[in-house]
Amino acid sequence: MIIKKEHIIAPSILGADFSKLREEIMMLSDTKAQWIHLDIMDQQFVPNLSFGPAIVKSIRPYTNLFFDVHLMVSNPFDLIKPFIDAGANGISFHIEASEPRFTFPPKILIGQIKKAGLKCGIALKPKTPISVLKKYLTMIDYVTLMSVEPGFGGQKFIESSMQKIQDLNYILIEMNLENKVKIQVDGGVITQNALKCLKSGADILVVGSEIFQSKNPKDTIETLISLK
Ligand code: DX5
Ligand code: ZN
Repeated sequence: MIIKKEHIIAPSILGADFSKLREEIMMLSDTKAQWIHLDIMDQQFVPNLSFGPAIVKSIRPYTNLFFDVHLMVSNPFDLIKPFIDAGANGISFHIEASEPRFTFPPKILIGQIKKAGLKCGIALKPKTPISVLKKYLTMIDYVTLMSVEPGFGGQKFIESSMQKIQDLNYILIEMNLENKVKIQVDGGVITQNALKCLKSGADILVVGSEIFQSKNPKDTIETLISLK
């Protein structure tokens, strides 16, 4: 597999020190990271609670980086507008929160996000097969492939995710969408497995713990961005 030309590093602020969020955001602005990954958890879809639109709005003035909101919530519909208003640039919702009950049909959610001019992603838990995505791939901008069970930072990368990245990459090539739909890998990504993710077809790497726990986060981002 040939590595794609350019990749994006998306630090997940779930791993940041929340008591100095502004400084952390400003630090990220001074690196080659292009996206900031914002994990939204409702203690229903996942067994953890994180933060809401007010926090996103409060950090928005301190960076021009792309704000990618990852909605790990049971009711994405009601949260899309508040996060658009808070300054999100992209929003992904979980297909598992939408598909089974069809309370929130994916097409409606995609339409709501795209109509506001944002990028739209669909997120997939590790055990959800890629096949459920097929009918939506022409409508979205990225797929967030979860490589840990959603809910917590600092977990170990699930190895079978590599195959899933490759499978999605092949599907996108087959559908002539490889330059349109990006593959984002989220959970347990570290410098040790990042190159393998990229070689499997990833375009965007979400990295939380490793960046914020390293002595020099800027150097870690530099290492991640220069992988090839
Ligand atoms: C997990 C989140 C991830 C997480 C990534 O539910 O969606 O974005 O913060 O953090 P690390 O890199 O620590 O796995
Ligand atoms: Zn995430």
